[in-house]
Amino acid sequence: MLKPGDTLVIASHNSGKIKEIREMLAAFSLNLVSARDLNIAEPEETGTTFVENSVLKATSIMEACQLPCLADDSGLCVEALNGAPGVYSARWAERANGERDFNYAFAKIFDSLDRSQSYSAQMRCVLTLSFPQGAIHSFDGIVNGHISLPPRGEHAFGYDPIFTPEGYNQTFAQMDPSLKSQISHRRHAFKQLVKFIS
Ligand code: IMP
Repeated sequence: MLKPGDTLVIASHNSGKIKEIREMLAAFSLNLVSARDLNIAEPEETGTTFVENSVLKATSIMEACQLPCLADDSGLCVEALNGAPGVYSARWAERANGERDFNYAFAKIFDSLDRSQSYSAQMRCVLTLSFPQGAIHSFDGIVNGHISLPPRGEHAFGYDPIFTPEGYNQTFAQMDPSLKSQISHRRHAFKQLVKFIS
């Protein structure tokens, strides 16, 4: 399926995701390149679920480069907002000029909530492997926790400064990145992927 030395394309332009995925696959001696390295644009995310968008990104980039591809579709789901921003997590951070500003997304989330409270939420990640021979496999990872303001932490990636996982009192952005990496939604999805490719 995938053996040491094989090329695997990370179907993303998101530096935070690419960094975490590289670290999680470091032990496999794969030749990891990203869609950004190959100048392949990400497709428009027209799906309404994490699985649909993950499969869409993995297959569209695989078709463009004819190499095995790994996509990650992920985001924050807030219970009090019926699962929003969910698959629209990236779009909630986009200002009218197209720039991503997560403080803007945090304000949108808390505008209809009491800013002094904490609210149940999940981080979710669906990884999809897509191969030129046609096989497609998805792996779903979830971490439960809560969101609260103000944003806390230096290791800022996306919604990390407002998300505290269950059983901890630091946000993902306050934790040492190696701790986040052991307990995150992405790690849960990766555990299944690693079992599959090992
Ligand atoms: P997409 O998967 O490209 O649609 O984007 C997912 C959005 O969720 C991005 O805006 C990310 O910043 C955010 N996101 C994904 N994973 C994480 C994470 O581990 N921590 C914080 N935010 C994340």
